[in-house]
Amino acid sequence: MNILKKLQEKAKDLTILCVEDEQDLRESIVMFLKKFFKKVDSAEDGLQGLEKYKSNHYDIVLTDIQMPKMDGLELLKEIKRIHPDRQGIILSAFDHKEYLLKAIEVKVDHYITKPIDINLMAATLLSSAETLELRAELEQQREIIIHQSRTSAMSDMLLYISHHWRQPLNAVAVSIQSLSFAYELGKLNKEYLDKQIANSMEIIQNLSSSLDQFRSFFVADSQKNFNPFTAIDELVALLIDAFKSDEIDIKYSMKNKNEDKNKIEIKGDVNEFKQVVLAILSNSKDAINSVRKEKKNYKGRINFTFIDSDDSIEIVIEDNGGGINPEILNRVFDPFFTTYNIANKKGLGLYIANMIICKKMGGELKLKNEGKGLKVDIKLSKAASQSKQ
Ligand SMILES: Nc1ncnc2c1ncn2[C@@H]1O[C@H](COP(=O)(O)OP(=O)(O)OP(=O)(O)O)[C@@H](O)[C@H]1O
Ligand SMILES: [Mg+2]
Repeated sequence: MNILKKLQEKAKDLTILCVEDEQDLRESIVMFLKKFFKKVDSAEDGLQGLEKYKSNHYDIVLTDIQMPKMDGLELLKEIKRIHPDRQGIILSAFDHKEYLLKAIEVKVDHYITKPIDINLMAATLLSSAETLELRAELEQQREIIIHQSRTSAMSDMLLYISHHWRQPLNAVAVSIQSLSFAYELGKLNKEYLDKQIANSMEIIQNLSSSLDQFRSFFVADSQKNFNPFTAIDELVALLIDAFKSDEIDIKYSMKNKNEDKNKIEIKGDVNEFKQVVLAILSNSKDAINSVRKEKKNYKGRINFTFIDSDDSIEIVIEDNGGGINPEILNRVFDPFFTTYNIANKKGLGLYIANMIICKKMGGELKLKNEGKGLKVDIKLSKAASQSKQ
């Protein structure tokens, strides 16, 4: 009773697909499920189940194993490939070893044996509903952490921007002062005045657009596609002066160029992507500066390599900052792991980067010591309309 009430509460916003070839059994399961779930659909075999799955949203799929056309394990394998987070429950009269092994391989979440014990089925569904609820909460917390980490990214950006602004502001100051010198020397004619005004206006326009870039950096822009090259260009433009003044050179190269690089698109929030690249660049800068404590005039180097393939793009960022001690390499993605004993180092850069690239964008993020430093490899799928299927 308690379980049924709990299930009613937890499943009221969830959708479920029941796939079973025995009509009577299917209908009675569906009748039972309808007492608890927001939406219940059914299918007669694996293939029909998969078609329904692809054109609807289901949180849980409850399926028989042996069915015509496509069996339940094949169906769940395909579903888990598309959405690893969805719950898959197997319903079967067979508990043979070979099925169980395959079920483990397919990452089936639960296994209910026939004849069905209603209480056991309710308890299993409740467990799936609770897992989904927990995941949703984690997802929410992840969003909050990413959002909060923007504040620390903002202070990094402000520091970088202050370098970016210093030189052009000096140029405007020189230009204005030159007017007074020109006047005193009797050389202030219209041509000179126009030239100085045009110069200063151009600089002011650039400063203004970099301010817009900076502002847009903190506005969430999800669900849109973006071009990774433009995103990196925009980000690097803001911080290149700060890196230059730290004697760090940033270079780009492109491999396997398949198509016009301006047309490549990735699905996701461009600003979150920039936040990842910023975290990686900041880490490289920190590492290079650490090397400098030993080797005074050490030249810093950061290389971007873009590897374009049919349906994905790889962004490789290599530095010469000495790399990561292999003993801690598997801990650097942990939250709050840092080797720096400085107040503003929170140990969140790579944790957030991993969360954004792997969990939110469905990509890969790998680290490897190579050459004189660290090699960061980001792999992202091109947006659906982009990949050649
Ligand atoms: N490019 C790199 N070269 C050498 N070590 C690195 C590099 N990137 C990361 N690390 C190591 O990984 C640790 C974790 O990096 P992470 O970005 O998560 O945190 P952090 O840089 O210490 O702090 P925060 O990013 O919050 O300011 C760093 O403290 C550093 O030891
Ligand atoms: Mg960092």
